Amino acid sequence: MTIYEALKTDHDKVKGLLNTLVSLGEGDEKQFASVVEQIRDELIPHSRAEEAVFYNSIREVNTAKDLAWHGYEEHMAAETLLRTLQAADKVDVQLNAVARELKSALEHHIAEEEGKIFSAAQHLFTEEEAVTMAEAFEGLKPKVKEGNIVQTTLDMVANMMPPRLAAPLRTFIYHA
Ligand SMILES: [Fe+2]
Ligand SMILES: [Fe+2]
Repeated sequence: MTIYEALKTDHDKVKGLLNTLVSLGEGDEKQFASVVEQIRDELIPHSRAEEAVFYNSIREVNTAKDLAWHGYEEHMAAETLLRTLQAADKVDVQLNAVARELKSALEHHIAEEEGKIFSAAQHLFTEEEAVTMAEAFEGLKPKVKEGNIVQTTLDMVANMMPPRLAAPLRTFIYHA
C-alpha cells in the first residue's frame, strides 16, 4: 500500500461519516454526538499522522511547501468546527449548519489533497518512499488516537515547527 491509498481510505471513511452527520435531524442528539466522536476518532489521528509523515516529507524536499502549509491551515479550521460540535449539548438549527460547514470544509480539503498535493508528491517521491510513508503513517495513527484536545493541538504545533525546535515540545507533550 502507498501513502496515497492509505490516506484515501481514511478520507472515504470520514466522508461517509459526514454524510451520516448532516442527515440526522432534531431529536437525534445521542446519535449526533456519537457520529461527532467517530469523526473525531478518524480525523485527528489521520491529520496528525498525515502532517508528521506526509506534509513534513513534502516540506523536507522543499518543493510544494506552500501546499503543505495550506493543508495545515485547513486542518486547523476543520478542528475548530469539530470542537464546536463536540462542545454542543443539543442538536439545533445552528448546530446542523456547523455540521454542514464542517462537511464542505473537509470535502474541499480532501479534494485538494487527493488532487494538487498527491500529484505534487508523486513527482517528489519514489514508489518505494510512498510505501514506507504508508507504513509510518499507519504506525503513528494509534499513538495519536488517545490524545486529548490539548495534547493533539500541541502535536500539531510540534509538527509545524522545525524538528530541532519541536523535540523539547514533544518531550513535554508525552511526559507531562
Ligand atoms: Fe487527509
Ligand atoms: Fe489533511
